[in-house]
Amino acid sequence: MSTVPFLPIKIGNLELKNRFLMSAAVDGMAADPHARAQRYSDLARGGVGLIVAGRVLDKKEEFGRVVDAVHEGGGRIALQILSHMGLGFNPKVDSPAASVVPGESVIFSSYFPYGPHHEATEGEIEEMIAACVNAARLAKSFGVDAVQVHSAHSSALLQFLTPLINQRKDKWGGPVENRVRVHQEVYRAVRAEVGPDMPILIKLGVEDPFPNGLKLAEGVVAARLLAECGYDAIEVSQGLQDFRDPKTMAGTPIRTGAIKVSEEGYFRAWCRDVKKAIDKPAIMTGGIRSYEIVAKILAGGEADMIGMCRPFVREPGLVKRWEEGDRKKATCISCNKCGMGMTKGLPLACYVKEK
Ligand SMILES: Cc1cc2nc3c(=O)[nH]c(=O)nc-3n(C[C@H](O)[C@H](O)[C@H](O)COP(=O)(O)O)c2cc1C
Ligand code: SF4
Repeated sequence: MSTVPFLPIKIGNLELKNRFLMSAAVDGMAADPHARAQRYSDLARGGVGLIVAGRVLDKKEEFGRVVDAVHEGGGRIALQILSHMGLGFNPKVDSPAASVVPGESVIFSSYFPYGPHHEATEGEIEEMIAACVNAARLAKSFGVDAVQVHSAHSSALLQFLTPLINQRKDKWGGPVENRVRVHQEVYRAVRAEVGPDMPILIKLGVEDPFPNGLKLAEGVVAARLLAECGYDAIEVSQGLQDFRDPKTMAGTPIRTGAIKVSEEGYFRAWCRDVKKAIDKPAIMTGGIRSYEIVAKILAGGEADMIGMCRPFVREPGLVKRWEEGDRKKATCISCNKCGMGMTKGLPLACYVKEK
């Protein structure tokens, strides 16, 4: 079977030892720095080429410990950055959003509450860009190897990309070329902050699960424009989220159930299209569980790297296991108990008993 998954790859100037990326997960572990450093150390020692950490609200020395643990374990770490604004951010605060959207046009949920909002002014858009720059500055001070801008899963930047929420008539709205302007400005401002060498990745939602939402064709154009603007790699994921089916989580990036081998990689077709449109590494994430599928996707040129999240929550040593020859499928059953745990304030961990 192909060994492409274990070949090194470069994102910008950053050398990675293999093609595996831990897709971002908020860890909820700041209260237990020792356990947190141990989790990231296990991931690095377990072979993950690039770990993307979800957003953190930390003091420098605390997250610096995580970064050190990853480096000592031979890994690399990126921190996800996002602006705190947008529709659905806080049901109690009048938040600046791309546009004013009536409640019935998007499926709101406890994950994405409908609340008071107004169309962001020029100044508020500048503040949104500045918030990303501040986050990048902090990330660099932690010693991370890269940053990843979050424009997927209903996030504030994604709201500017999707025509369902962005109905602006100014230079930030209208055709897709305008709807990615804020992402391009974020890139330029973050690049000016972190300097020429640190890779800036983006996690990009390229399609919404709603009839009037973002369509793949435009998502692919956005990916091309963002790669041309300078982003060093694009991780492909979902745009807005639809939580109406909690059993399957079908309209979300965290689909449930033991995913059949034939159904692995639920964003595979999207990533394939993005990969064809860009000349930077394309990262495929979402329900990938088997080595044979990973090898096939990479050897077939459908993606340059594979992102996994829940499999690495359960088995931080999965890459090493596969590299050493035990190629059995990841044991994560995609039940989302780890995600539910996060909503209850529990630390990131697998809450399914060992089999
Ligand atoms: C507990 C948990 C926390 C997550 N936090 C984030 C996050 O902070 N940012 C993000 O972009 N995606 C987040 N995700 C989504 C994952 O990065 C990934 O896109 C998704 O789980 C699909 O990959 P998988 O099937 O390999 O788990 C999270 C997922 C889980 C299960
Ligand atoms: S709780 Fe464990 S088995 Fe369930 S999705 Fe999370 S990591 Fe996988």
